[in-house]
Amino acid sequence: MNEDAAFESTDRWADVARVGDVWEGELGPATVWGFAIFLVNVGGAIRAYEDRCPHQRNPLSDGTLEDSRIVCRYHNWCFDLGSGKGINPEDAELVRIPVRIREQMIQVERPPWA
Ligand code: FES
Repeated sequence: MNEDAAFESTDRWADVARVGDVWEGELGPATVWGFAIFLVNVGGAIRAYEDRCPHQRNPLSDGTLEDSRIVCRYHNWCFDLGSGKGINPEDAELVRIPVRIREQMIQVERPPWA
């Protein structure tokens, strides 16, 4: 996977990886439009989230995958990667980035702040 830059970008969507490069059980960090994201394959569905823990903004891609959950390595906050919702604590939530597939490429939508 390309971790440094998008393969091809438009104003709104950027290619970040090939579909076959994001395997279940792995996190795929990437940088797009100057901010860090990670990709994850949850039961065949690709999700993208900002790579910042909502607790103290440390990189979640340093964390541990446990099935469809991620545990932040810094203070063990835990999130469901299908929804982005917090499991511990329940009121936390990841910033989800819209994803689409075009010609076997995973594209992410530029968020309003980027
Ligand atoms: S920075 Fe992730 S739990 Fe504290």
